[in-house]
Amino acid sequence: IIVFIFYKKLYIWNLITKTYITMSIWRVKPISAFEADMKKSTLKRVLGKWSLTAIGVGAIIGGGIFVLTGTGAYYHAGPALAISFIIAGIACVFAALCYSEFASILPVEGSAYAYAYGTIGEIFAWIIGWGLILEYAMGSMTVAVSWSGYFNKLLLKFGISLPDWLTTDPASYTGEGFSMNLPAFLIVLLVISILIKGTQNAAKANNMIVILKVSAVLFVIIAGAFFINFDNWSPFIPEATQIVEKETTHNAYGLTGIVSGAAAIFFAYVGFDAVSTQAGEAINPKKDVPFAIIASLLICTTLYILVSLVLTGMMNYQDFNPLGKYPDAIKAPVAYAFDIAGQGWAGLIITIAATVGLVSVLMVMIMGQSRIFLGMSKDGLIPQVFSRVNPISGTPKTNLMILGGIIAVVAAFTPINELADMTSFGTLFAFTMVCIAVWILRVKQPELVRTFKVPALPVIAVCGILINTYLMVNLSVKAQLFSGAWLLIGILVYFGYSKSRSKLNNDKAE
Ligand code: ALA
Repeated sequence: IIVFIFYKKLYIWNLITKTYITMSIWRVKPISAFEADMKKSTLKRVLGKWSLTAIGVGAIIGGGIFVLTGTGAYYHAGPALAISFIIAGIACVFAALCYSEFASILPVEGSAYAYAYGTIGEIFAWIIGWGLILEYAMGSMTVAVSWSGYFNKLLLKFGISLPDWLTTDPASYTGEGFSMNLPAFLIVLLVISILIKGTQNAAKANNMIVILKVSAVLFVIIAGAFFINFDNWSPFIPEATQIVEKETTHNAYGLTGIVSGAAAIFFAYVGFDAVSTQAGEAINPKKDVPFAIIASLLICTTLYILVSLVLTGMMNYQDFNPLGKYPDAIKAPVAYAFDIAGQGWAGLIITIAATVGLVSVLMVMIMGQSRIFLGMSKDGLIPQVFSRVNPISGTPKTNLMILGGIIAVVAAFTPINELADMTSFGTLFAFTMVCIAVWILRVKQPELVRTFKVPALPVIAVCGILINTYLMVNLSVKAQLFSGAWLLIGILVYFGYSKSRSKLNNDKAE
């Protein structure tokens, strides 16, 4: 009897696990399947090492550094804002190293989504891909809206003012009748038209913009250094306190302030992982993608640390108080610091740099999203239309047009800028998953050839997981709730649509 029961139990257990595995949401795409996909790829390989690095810098430096520094200094870190930038930079370096190892094994276009598919399993890959929509598509919408803000500011400097109904989404519009954010709508269409023409053209445009914006950041650092008042750095880490404003309590200054500051300015770092979405178009992806990820991150981290030191030296962190003597300083802190130093003309340079610079952020983000969709579509998880590559331009034209249409409409008609933190959430979520996935792959398939290997992997992966999760938890509650809801919708879509259409599912059936 005992043998019989034991046998039955084993049988039932086997049945359950077998069904579980065959219905498997945990199926893993074999590395050989990725390699086969790469051979079949019709994307044009046109990106060299420096173009890839420029793509990284192009995506990272945007409005974040020009805008969030005031909030970071006043509500969080004080003059120690530079330390917040170092912490956020370190969180990114951990993730960047893990991305680099993956890119050296799987130089495919899907980024973190593909890495998870090759290691943890389909459901995870899907959730990461779905989360990446927050980073790239929602990030693009937010960037388009902030571009519109900078563009209007620039026009105002030349005495031109667009009517409110043409620059405001209907929900935020206080007047009567129709309204839309036309500049946000048009800039997305412009970027899409460049991307459709070909990756090489887009990379050339990006290179030029990157030179311009890095020059502008260097200008801020060098010119600003002459106006530093060293008293503003003292105390460098103000005593921890709480700032209560409009029913929100900010744990400011001290160590907690520095860490929450790192979460608040994290958006400024969003984008370096976009390099990994371009692996399918890199000439020598296994070597150049890891190089570009790390190089672009190091360049931007150095620039950011210097900008935050200069800014908090030029202006006392208390002066960014929106209820204080300079109520507008927090909205455009860098330009404002120059205004106060009597160098108003510098504000014009910064506004031009931010306006032009955001175009390349938008370009790389939309490009990144289209390549992630391309990867997901090749795997059958989203409709096939997203993986059609135009034979002449070598770009996924239909994919870009659908994506661009959605981004343009949402940016023009919804108050999306309130949800910028969700972009950080999607990014941090992907970073955490990549740290986990790279570790799993190292344990499961140590024999794979890796042209780049993360040194001391368990330590780096654990640090990456902890620090990125911690930053995620420190984002605004609203962003966490919305992002959680977004991921839940993703799970429903997976079970309702993608799971049964997965190519791995059908391959198995065949
Ligand atoms: N990192 C980009 C920015 O700051 C998204 O605009």
